[in-house]
Amino acid sequence: ISKIAVLTSGGDAPGMNPCIRAVVRTAIYNGLHVAGVRQGYQGLIDNNMYDMDPRSVSNILNLGGTILKTARCLPFRTDEGMETAYKNLKANGIDGLVVIGGDGTFTGALRFSKKYPDIAVIGVPGTIDNDLYGSTYTLGFDTATNTVIEAIDKIRDTADAHDRLFFIEVMGRDSGAIALRAGISCGAEAILLPERDTAIEHLIENLKAGQYNKKSSSIVIVAEGDKRGAYDLAEEVRKQVKFYDIKVTILGHLQRGGSPSAFDRILGSRLGFAAVNALIKGETQKMVGLEANHIKLTDLEEALTQHQFKLEEDLMEMSDILSI
Ligand code: F6P
Repeated sequence: ISKIAVLTSGGDAPGMNPCIRAVVRTAIYNGLHVAGVRQGYQGLIDNNMYDMDPRSVSNILNLGGTILKTARCLPFRTDEGMETAYKNLKANGIDGLVVIGGDGTFTGALRFSKKYPDIAVIGVPGTIDNDLYGSTYTLGFDTATNTVIEAIDKIRDTADAHDRLFFIEVMGRDSGAIALRAGISCGAEAILLPERDTAIEHLIENLKAGQYNKKSSSIVIVAEGDKRGAYDLAEEVRKQVKFYDIKVTILGHLQRGGSPSAFDRILGSRLGFAAVNALIKGETQKMVGLEANHIKLTDLEEALTQHQFKLEEDLMEMSDILSI
């Protein structure tokens, strides 16, 4: 390995910048050259990359988003797109690639690497959804969860002042990880997760029990993976629950922004450092992750096929009990 490229792809996640910084500095420390690719795989196709040095990543630890920009790139899914990307990498003398992103990013990385095995590829799990096999935590999940908690605490103030019921929809794609942890942290009366079915009748019973137990406000967190959606759920509940004024808040993309937490800065640094060291050792088609506080390499193939992230049963059980 003599020159590596680094890119961020898919939805941005707080912690990507600390990771880019770690990749650039670890590579240069080890005598490698580094190119930063703009806009994910699109930048590989457009040959939109630039040489980076240690100062290119100064003062970015605290920044949300990604200084390299990101994109969801359809042309990279085609053979022509991949071939153009490959030719550009070769023309720039690049023989190693670090891709920071989620499962869509890894799917592209694996296909590319199987087609062009002379470019070594290492993936870093960067997504607020926390839905990747092979890493207990993904970059951005901690910050996003804290952002959600801050928002829900504020909604609780006004919900309590007006004796209202709020349905709050949070991100996570098919994963309820953000919803579950935010729900526990904010004492949500109910948490609707794609990982378990909660019948509407059960939810209504729960809310009635809350009223009987003299709760003045209620918060129902709806993971976006619950296909019923916060608005339709609120509509259904409104037909049968008359003791609350019901409101809906969709938190949306504010969940993706903001300065990374200490946890995500450290995780990004560790994973970026580990990704470059893996390339130097000759690894390819692997994802670097954190399990039991240790760096672990998982085959990209395995990370993708096992990718259904399981939520902790004890957290789900506990959240129901603690919110009575
Ligand atoms: O994967 C991260 C994520 O924020 C998901 O939680 C959400 O479903 C999706 O991306 C939104 O994507 P976009 O920003 O393209 O609308």
